Amino acid sequence: MGAQLALVTGGASGIGLATARLLKQHGDVLIADRDPSLIDVAEREGFGAVAADVTSTADWRCMAQHVRDRYGRLDVLVHNAGTAHIAPLVETSDADLRRVLETNVLSVLIGTREMWDLLVAARGCVVNVASVSALVGQDAAAAYVASKGAVVAVTRALAVELAPHGVRVNSVCPGSTDTPLLARHFASLPDGKQARQRLIERHPIGRLLTAEDIAPSVAHLAGPGAMAITGANVVVDGGLTATFDFGSSFAGGGPKDAA
Ligand SMILES: NC(=O)c1ccc[n+]([C@@H]2O[C@H](COP(=O)([O-])OP(=O)(O)OC[C@H]3O[C@@H](n4cnc5c(N)ncnc54)[C@H](O)[C@@H]3O)[C@@H](O)[C@H]2O)c1
Repeated sequence: MGAQLALVTGGASGIGLATARLLKQHGDVLIADRDPSLIDVAEREGFGAVAADVTSTADWRCMAQHVRDRYGRLDVLVHNAGTAHIAPLVETSDADLRRVLETNVLSVLIGTREMWDLLVAARGCVVNVASVSALVGQDAAAAYVASKGAVVAVTRALAVELAPHGVRVNSVCPGSTDTPLLARHFASLPDGKQARQRLIERHPIGRLLTAEDIAPSVAHLAGPGAMAITGANVVVDGGLTATFDFGSSFAGGGPKDAA
C-alpha cells in the first residue's frame, strides 16, 4: 500500500488550495476542479489533478476509477467545491437554485456514494466545507443558506451511516474568507469596497478570514489527531456567529476600533 491519498474538490483555488497544501505534508493529494487553472496549479504544487464537475455523477465515477487505478486507495475526501448566488429569492431562477444546490450539497451525496467502497476500505474520513450560512440567516442568499444548512445536516447523517465502517465525517463552517469567490462577489457590487469594509467590521477579530485560517481545521479533522470526532461541525469564523450586533451606542461608546 502506498502513501495516504487525499482528494480535495475545488482544490485549484481558495480554501481548497490551502487545504491541499497542508494535506500534502501527509501524503499524496489529488485535486479535482472544473477550472482550467487546475493543471497549472497541480504541476506547480506537486498535486495530482483530475478535471471534474462535482455535480456530475459520471465525473465522480471517472474520479473513483482514476483513484483506484492510479493510487489504489482513498483516505481523505474533502468536499470543498462550492458556488454562491447572492440575490433576492424572487430574482433567483430555477437554474440558479439547481446550480447552487447541486454544486454545494448534491455533490456531497453523490461523491460520498461513489467513493464509499474506497473510503470504507481505507477506514478513511470525509470533511465537508459548509459555511456560517448554515447556522444563521443571511439576506439575499436563500439558495446558498439552504445548501450549506443541508451540508451540515448531511454530515451528521453520513457520520452515523459510515461510523460502523470506521469512516469519520465532519464539517467546517468558515466565516467570510478572503478568496476569489468573495472577491468576485464584491467586484459585482456597485459599492464593493464599502461592503467589504462593513463585513470586516462584523467580524470581532477585525478582519476577514483567510484560506490559511480555515485549512488547519479541515486538515485536523482529516488527520489521526481527530480520533473519535465524527458528526461534528467546527466553526472557524473569527467570532462572527458568537456575537449579536447591538450597534455601537449600546455600550455607550462610538464605533469600535477594528484594528
Ligand atoms: N469564501 C468565503 O467567504 C466562504 C465562506 C464560507 C464557506 N465557503 C465555502 O468554501 C468553499 C470554497 O470556497 P472558496 O471561497 O475557496 O471559493 P473559490 O471560488 O476560491 O474556490 C472554489 C473552487 O471550486 C471550484 N468549483 C466550483 N464549482 C465546481 C464544480 N461544479 N465542479 C468542480 N469544481 C468546482 C472552482 O472552480 C474553484 O476552484 C465553498 O464550498 C464555499 O461555499 C466560502
